[in-house]
Amino acid sequence: MEDYGAGGASYEAAGREEGLGRLVDAFYRHMNTLAEARTIRAMHGADLCLTTEKLKVFLTAWLGGPNRYRERFGPISIPGFHAHFPIAEPERDAWLLCMQRAVDEQPWATAFKQYFMRAIAVPAERVRIASLDHHAGK
Ligand code: HEM
Repeated sequence: MEDYGAGGASYEAAGREEGLGRLVDAFYRHMNTLAEARTIRAMHGADLCLTTEKLKVFLTAWLGGPNRYRERFGPISIPGFHAHFPIAEPERDAWLLCMQRAVDEQPWATAFKQYFMRAIAVPAERVRIASLDHHAGK
């Protein structure tokens, strides 16, 4: 089995920037249309263009591709950025559902789809904890 954690293996498996661009376009299309995502969609601005671009460049770096996020937008802490949004289990799961639907549409190896969803669930859970701490006044 391929080691997607090694070097740029997962960036390649995702189809590089073009592949991740297709993933993120599909992700926000699902966020715009799934009933389960209505609450998290409402946390975003009306225009998703810049956020779409940011998630594309963020995931590019996160999967081992060039770090264009830092180049273009500066450093980011994903949990810190999201802490002020009210994100509990239902919101985390709605976000992951949009991502699962988007991943399902990609021409990726099944093993890589499973790897990607397991990996992205980690920062999604960190976001939930950061929001919990923030709203508890910690
Ligand atoms: C756990 C559930 C999550 C929810 C509900 C959520 C929600 C949001 C919201 C409301 C925004 C602001 C968008 C806007 O103002 O239009 C945002 C931006 C963003 N999110 Fe999330 N998010 C989640 C998880 C994640 C995860 C796991 C990642 C990365 C692995 C991520 C990456 C980003 C990035 C890169 C941005 C753009 C940041 C910027 O404006 O600089 N999000 N998210």
